[in-house]
Amino acid sequence: MAGSPETIFTVDPVALKYGAGALRELGVDAVALGMKRVMLVTDPTLAALAPVATAREALRAAGIDVVVFDRVRIEPTDASFRDAAAFATEGKFDGFVSVGGGSVIDTAKAANLYSTYPPADFLDYVNAPLGRAVPVPGPLKPHLACPTTAGTGSETTAVAIFDFVESQVKTGISSKFLRPTKAVVDPTATYSLPAGVVACTGFDVLTHAIESYTARLFSSRPAPADPLTRPPYQGANPWSDGGALRAIELGGRYLVRAVTDPADTEARDNLTFAATLAGLAFGNAGVHIPHAMSYSVAGLNHRYTATGYENEGGMVPHGLSVVINAPAAFRFTADTAPGRHLTAARALGATGGGLSDAGDILAGQLEHMMRATGIPSGLKALGYGEGDIPALVDGAWKQQRLLVMAPKEVTRDHLATLYGAAMRYWD
Ligand SMILES: [Fe+2]
Repeated sequence: MAGSPETIFTVDPVALKYGAGALRELGVDAVALGMKRVMLVTDPTLAALAPVATAREALRAAGIDVVVFDRVRIEPTDASFRDAAAFATEGKFDGFVSVGGGSVIDTAKAANLYSTYPPADFLDYVNAPLGRAVPVPGPLKPHLACPTTAGTGSETTAVAIFDFVESQVKTGISSKFLRPTKAVVDPTATYSLPAGVVACTGFDVLTHAIESYTARLFSSRPAPADPLTRPPYQGANPWSDGGALRAIELGGRYLVRAVTDPADTEARDNLTFAATLAGLAFGNAGVHIPHAMSYSVAGLNHRYTATGYENEGGMVPHGLSVVINAPAAFRFTADTAPGRHLTAARALGATGGGLSDAGDILAGQLEHMMRATGIPSGLKALGYGEGDIPALVDGAWKQQRLLVMAPKEVTRDHLATLYGAAMRYWD
């Protein structure tokens, strides 16, 4: 009932095929969706690696005409989205298969949207205030999303994120129609990733899970007058909590192992499953401050080169841009929900402490894991200084759809303090 507290949460089904060898069955999945001519979206590095070859072979063996598009930019821009959209329009495809990380999957979502329902202007579908947030008119063509990094969760989410270069800000397109038709998750596809990439994407997994678990409760919103206007990010709820907590546990146990020993396939398998669980949780509950703060950290910096991303030119990888804010953010949010922060810290492997210092325990455990995996010590190590804080705050302030998911109110002054705290965590 309108005005009273929300009592309902919803779970939209996401079709998922999970396990070693899943990529080899891709042809069967594509035929079942009626695909005959497919745009296989990937990036230039992955194009030469085993997961793409396996996917292409599986599709061809099923009699499908496959055209590879390998020009995806890691951390895509409006220009790289347009490039993929033009390719999709010209190619007259009836289906999309993406094999790669979040950048690849998001680019496939955009190519599908812009070729299926060409807008008058690129910014029409882009989230307000930067874009006009015109609703996507209807279902897109089928899209099989095959992640090769245990990270973004893009294979199950309804958003496509990109860098709008002119405004130096990351933004995105949100619509339930962007959600891939099926996620095909084959953990063996992550085996070729360099350690630095496993670290950045692994911390993206962990922050998705911890942010979902510490997001405001779904029952803290007023019930909508019209059930159809229930928001896609509902807040923490019993369904998202289950997957989020399990993902935090798996991340705590396996992230450092997966980074420090490339041959530890048990760790990479478990991290991939954690990524899937965390993706489902945050697609349902939402993420908050660390992700909101990440957009300007990545958007304003095109000079930094992260370990494992040397071929991409200057940019801050998504997972790094998020986790670098996370210790500061969880110290700030812990007082509103100390029990949840302490439970998350315990799931991550922290011992000692109690409810009164839950934020410190959680942040300290994250910092410990960041140090163990070669993550920089804070924003200063990425090249930021105190003078950049106003611009960083401006970028984060635009992410209201995420800031409202925080368990407490966030002001511009809070954000400035948080960026200050994130400058340097250890010496
Ligand atoms: Fe993320």
